[in-house]
Amino acid sequence: MPYYTHNSAMTQEQQILELRDELHLHNYNYYIKNQPTISDREFDEKMALLMELEKQHPEMFDPNSPTQRVGSDLSNDFNQVKHRYPMLSLANTYNREEVQAFYDRVKSGLGNEDFKICCELKYDGLSISLIYHNGKLARAITRGDGIVGDDVTANVKTIRTIPLILNKGDYPEDFEIRGEILMPWQSFDNLNKQRQEKGEPLFANPRNAAGGTLKSKKPAVVAERKLDACLYYLLGDTLPGDSHYENLQTVAKWGFKVSDAMKRVSTLDEVMAYIDYWDKARASLPVATDGIVLKVDSIRQQQILGHTAKNPRWAIAYKFQAERALTRLNSVSYQVGRTGAITPVANMEPVLLSGTIVKRASLHNEDIIRSLDLHIGDMVYVEKAGEIIPQVVGVDYSQRDERHPGQKVEFIKTCPQCGSPLIRYENEAAHYCTNDSLCPPQIKGKIEHFISRDAMNIDSLGPETVAEYFDRGLIKDVADLYLLKTTDLIGENGTKLKSAQKIINAIEKSKQQPFDRTLYALGIRFVGKVTAKNIAHRFLTLDNLINAVNNNQQQLLDTEGVGAVIASSIIHYFNEPKNIEIINRLCQYGLNFKTEQQTTPQNDTLKNQNIVISGTFTHHSREEYKNIIEAHGGKNSSSISAKTSFILAGDNMGPSKLEKAQKLSIKIINEEEFLDLIKTTNN
Ligand code: IVH
Repeated sequence: MPYYTHNSAMTQEQQILELRDELHLHNYNYYIKNQPTISDREFDEKMALLMELEKQHPEMFDPNSPTQRVGSDLSNDFNQVKHRYPMLSLANTYNREEVQAFYDRVKSGLGNEDFKICCELKYDGLSISLIYHNGKLARAITRGDGIVGDDVTANVKTIRTIPLILNKGDYPEDFEIRGEILMPWQSFDNLNKQRQEKGEPLFANPRNAAGGTLKSKKPAVVAERKLDACLYYLLGDTLPGDSHYENLQTVAKWGFKVSDAMKRVSTLDEVMAYIDYWDKARASLPVATDGIVLKVDSIRQQQILGHTAKNPRWAIAYKFQAERALTRLNSVSYQVGRTGAITPVANMEPVLLSGTIVKRASLHNEDIIRSLDLHIGDMVYVEKAGEIIPQVVGVDYSQRDERHPGQKVEFIKTCPQCGSPLIRYENEAAHYCTNDSLCPPQIKGKIEHFISRDAMNIDSLGPETVAEYFDRGLIKDVADLYLLKTTDLIGENGTKLKSAQKIINAIEKSKQQPFDRTLYALGIRFVGKVTAKNIAHRFLTLDNLINAVNNNQQQLLDTEGVGAVIASSIIHYFNEPKNIEIINRLCQYGLNFKTEQQTTPQNDTLKNQNIVISGTFTHHSREEYKNIIEAHGGKNSSSISAKTSFILAGDNMGPSKLEKAQKLSIKIINEEEFLDLIKTTNN
């Protein structure tokens, strides 16, 4: 049975839901895990498609759609602070025609008035907002979702290029300055070298390294890693003057590091020349850049042009083409991932690309292989998209010997690891091995995920040990871990009594992991840490969750962060007998499948009340509010109707909900009023 099924003709509505789920996942990979799995360009294309579809279906407006937000980098460990001015991102362009179109739009938007453009480098790091009061750094906040960010002041204070106290000067009492936190190439290379020596996973690029560092809980670690910063945007009620360029020259005197590559120009030709120059010259910069930013210089004119929900109309980013190399394709091999997804990999003659030697590159999927009409021996173009994984992007057909071409590359039909047939689900590009309970890489992957830090946190075991135990037949699934005995481990691969005991103790201790971690550890497709937490808050016990799967699937969809795709993946998971068998064994061995819920009093204060929750809250999460409502005898509804008793509204309630509530004259109460309501009646 497939992980989830699609109708062959997916409606636009379904496509919207699917794209939202997919983009949420990519946002999470990019911003929270610092491990993007697709290139910026692919992400932008998917986002553009979703925007287009949403435009055609205004009835499907959702304030939480990825189109309504700039990707979130919030993590739970820092205080969250609301931005005084939302942190917008820039619209991307990839070619000269799009740059020209931006220039023309500005021109006509300003009624053909003269204007200047400030050309800048687009630094590839992490955006930061610094707030100064009376010349002192008061706060440093990450972008977060653009509305609310993480307070990372303690960490930012360790960055030497960020002034804690400004030089004497005529700065305003209060202002905000935004810029990019960067990890210079040199620090990045040193850091990865150290990590390699310690056997720790390497950072894919300086942006991820800077992100991981800035979110570190220990400011001392941040200080060690030698971050840098470059500031490029001044905000406040009173600014020194009307020119963005000149204001930045002024802030440089106050003590801020601004880019000396900035240039103010008056024609489109000069803009293009700037792009041409830096496309090459950026190779010798000490920090990573991924494009150029063009900004209308006059702040008065910026205000005339204004912004859309996501991007200013007065600025745009031009992204550089990734660096390319040409090399020979020697063979194609196939990797089987933890989810059973098959990735075709090109094995090539080693070639130098963006400073590293590349000999393997991703071919993504069967469609890409077909569209390239790939033959062994072809000369192929390889690119590094955002410095993540190199990919084959084209073939130089002129170098192919048409009379004697190499063998045509045909996608495999069976799993290279276990020989099971592969399946390709409709509307998905990837092939999967169908044998998800017995295919070795899938099981090893499941066990590796299960023991990982954010899951069961069995830190004395690592991927190599897991692979070894698996290969020796000591463990065949995650539940077998709990049957291991010290004597099984001693002597194997030089393991001494002490380390064997350490492993067994860590396994034993993992039984105390909270329910959301245990749920995440199961490795249900698409159920990441955040979703697992929401589900655990919503259902409190595994029994309740399985009950919803069997009898009330709407409850799944009503859970925050769970869309159609995640819901079907959960349903599929619990319909697989092998999974239930493993869960039963895990329960029997004492793992935690219950939330230790704060004891919410059970009464019927909210009896017969239909309540809709909207917005974001301070005292409890949305899932907790749903539980509180149910514990007081009330009912949660997802949409407003004449039957709605009242709306519990947090910050940023969706505009369509607000309009509907006003139209139907439905009472809106805020968080404090709600808590008072249940408190009064609880006494
Ligand atoms: S200006 C409203 N200037 O690129 C405009 N951004 O989406 C605010 N970036 O979030 C941004 N270099 O993290 C600006 N010279 C530069 C930049 C820059 C890098 C980043 C920034 C922003 C993203 C664009």
